[in-house]
Amino acid sequence: MKLVLLGPPGAGKGTQASLIEKEYDIPHISTGDMLREAVKQGTELGRRAESYMTKGELVPDQVVIGIVSECLRQPEYEKGFMLDGFPRTVAQAEALDKALSENGDCLDAVMSFEVPDEELVRRLSARRVCGSCGVTYGATDSKTCGKCEGELITRADDQTEAIERRLEVYRAQTAPLIDYYDRAGVLVRIPATGSVEQIFGLVKEKLKGLEDG
Ligand code: AP5
Repeated sequence: MKLVLLGPPGAGKGTQASLIEKEYDIPHISTGDMLREAVKQGTELGRRAESYMTKGELVPDQVVIGIVSECLRQPEYEKGFMLDGFPRTVAQAEALDKALSENGDCLDAVMSFEVPDEELVRRLSARRVCGSCGVTYGATDSKTCGKCEGELITRADDQTEAIERRLEVYRAQTAPLIDYYDRAGVLVRIPATGSVEQIFGLVKEKLKGLEDG
């Protein structure tokens, strides 16, 4: 299955992607995770991307399109993949369509996670991530990771100013993709305000609908 998870920052794309990957064995491709890893490793890509990411701006299209195109050429993604955080602009969506259609392929579904802004801000302000293994936590009083005992930190772009900017950028540049994919007939809307488990239940229902045709 070839899926895109679409939604504003904090909508739970990464959280649901981990569950989908485990249950359905669909490989998860997160451009945010790839870029954060590049920043951590201090690569040329990381140095280029870091200032955009910290301010809550998008990394330029040609950089991200290059990374994803390269990634999708790998044999492990031939049978299926789940893109999280890509595409984020109409130019990225068009580049993805082009790359897939060159192989006679197309997306099976674009899951659009819908959450009101107040809840997004609450989730992002409370989020902590393990500085060592990268696992994400919701609100927690713990200072260390339950998995590897690494230190829990706040993502640089989860500061108030960057959260506001990310939401503006989402509305201006990414939200138009909802219409884009609706017109293409692949949009699946997921009201994503319940518990993680409730939302995963909805995701599974939608995926079953797709599998049953
Ligand atoms: P990226 O990492 O993709 O960030 P994002 O889209 O802003 O998404 P988030 O990771 O913030 O949220 P999420 O929807 O995955 O939610 P999560 O599951 O973590 O991108 C970061 C940056 O990289 C961008 O700003 C940009 O600079 C750059 N970038 C990446 N891709 C790019 C592209 N294609 N083009 C250009 N630039 C790009 O959940 C959030 C929190 O809520 C967590 O704490 C979680 O535990 C909690 N939570 C999840 N579900 C629930 C629930 N149901 N109830 C309560 N809490 C919940």
